Amino acid sequence: MMELGYLNQGQPSRGTTPLVTLPLLLSTLVFFSTFTHAFSSSVFPELNPIKPRHSRLLRSAVQRETPTSQLSELWSPLESQGWKPYVESNKPTALPEKSEGYIQVFLDGGLNQQKMGICDAVAVAKILNATLVIPYLELNPVWRDSSSFMDIFDVDHFIDVLKDDISIVKELPKEFAWSTREYYGLAIRETRIKAAPVHASAYWYLENVLPVLQSYGIAAISPFSHRLSFDNLPVDIQHLRCKVNFQALTFVSHIRTLGDALISRLRYPQGSAEEMGFNYLQEVTGAGARKNAGKFVVLHLRFDKDMAAHSACDFGGGKAEKLALAKYRQVIWQGRVLNSQFTDEELRSQGRCPMTPEEVGLLLAAMGFDNSTRLYLASHKVYGGEARISTLRELFPRMEDKKSLASSEERSEIKGKASLLAALDYYVGLHSDIFISASPGNMHNALVGHRTYLNLKTIRPNMALMGQLFLNKTIEWSEFQDAVVEGHQNRQGEPRLRKPKQSIYTYPAPDCMCQA
Ligand SMILES: *[C@@H]1O[C@H](CO)[C@@H](O)[C@H](O)[C@H]1NC(C)=O
Ligand SMILES: *[C@@H]1O[C@H](CO)[C@@H](O)[C@H](O)[C@H]1NC(C)=O
Ligand SMILES: *[C@@H]1O[C@H](CO)[C@@H](O)[C@H](O)[C@H]1NC(C)=O
Repeated sequence: MMELGYLNQGQPSRGTTPLVTLPLLLSTLVFFSTFTHAFSSSVFPELNPIKPRHSRLLRSAVQRETPTSQLSELWSPLESQGWKPYVESNKPTALPEKSEGYIQVFLDGGLNQQKMGICDAVAVAKILNATLVIPYLELNPVWRDSSSFMDIFDVDHFIDVLKDDISIVKELPKEFAWSTREYYGLAIRETRIKAAPVHASAYWYLENVLPVLQSYGIAAISPFSHRLSFDNLPVDIQHLRCKVNFQALTFVSHIRTLGDALISRLRYPQGSAEEMGFNYLQEVTGAGARKNAGKFVVLHLRFDKDMAAHSACDFGGGKAEKLALAKYRQVIWQGRVLNSQFTDEELRSQGRCPMTPEEVGLLLAAMGFDNSTRLYLASHKVYGGEARISTLRELFPRMEDKKSLASSEERSEIKGKASLLAALDYYVGLHSDIFISASPGNMHNALVGHRTYLNLKTIRPNMALMGQLFLNKTIEWSEFQDAVVEGHQNRQGEPRLRKPKQSIYTYPAPDCMCQA
């Protein structure tokens, strides 16, 4: 749901520009520092009431009706694309005879950024023949969730799945107990690797980290996010990263159980199928599906204040909102936000503005999702609150989220814990019939990758097209509809082969998959 990867797409280094992208800047701020003052969400009072921005389109959209044939196509599963997950067969154990020492990493970012860091940490430990210590998850200044690895992921499953690949320990042995986050926070330490370049090569680790391991028996790498290249690595190391990401990392059982409950409530809502508007769906659920299983869309909406401010776009909240966002931008990023050099129009036509709830609702409506669609809203906090969500709800009255589907008692273990809430949304998103995200951040990338791996339907919004369509103040609903449908024809989850520098976690073909 909620990482600061917006417009970053896993490539944090953009070379020489003095302007800072959000994730890198935050990494710098976060690491080993306490940082609390600026992120309080109650610093600036706003907003004026938010009115729909595209009221003309909205009026038509509310009255839309979709032909059954279009609906069944929309909901039908993605056809086989000729790729399947790579599975290793009867591999003998590949553990090194002796461990070179312990690798410790400290991971910042939100859930999905930390997840990539975990996969990379396993790979680095493998490259070095080292023993991995279960990674330490830094407290993120935005999400402020102190959950540890073991609070989020099933640690025994993790160790078990990887037992023939690398050695993993939950804790350091007594002789190394001094090697803590606090120890590294206090002074320069010889066992800390501080200068790992972004997307470092395997060779870099052998040259720079192996000697530390050999001298001290331990190396603590921090910062570590985005510190291992996606290119020029041995095939077995790439396969191992995939195995960690798609097989070894599963959520703790209470997240999976609650997730399954939400999924079941989405598929089998109270009341008769007809009453709930699910009659047409029975036609498209194949044999073997439990009778009357309804389908659902998960919409990931990362539209909170820091995202809105960082994008530097105008979201139609008037002068008060514009001022509030500009001020927020100034406080947090001191004017170093690349996007604020451009006008709203320029940003929109380049597809650099996250879609508002209203806009993503119009996109879904134009694609043909009718008002009986079960829509699960995966979201943390929506800037502007219910006023902004109400337009979306008008288009999709059967919208649900974790709060509407689960009692507060059921949610008590995850309440207020951003990473666990994100984990739950990730789980529901992974198991949905269709997933769509309103902006391309880390949650989007992670789920696009995971769903590609499993050949599941995922709508990838054409942000530039949507930006241009929303700029057009005279366009009619039918023209809008046609343009949206046409512009998303080949954006429904078909695998796109990874290009150099792109993330294997977002583009798992061909590194994690093979031709079926
Ligand atoms: C859905 O749309 C149809 C057609 O416009 C309308 O008759 C119906 O009342 C709507 N249902 C809901 C739940 O809004
Ligand atoms: C790791 O172990 C393998 C097999 O035992 C060996 O071939 C390789 O050279 C070792 N690499 C390092 C960095 O120690
Ligand atoms: C707006 O859309 C209409 C209909 O597609 C088109 O004719 C017109 O040129 C567009 N206007 C702009 C400014 O793009």
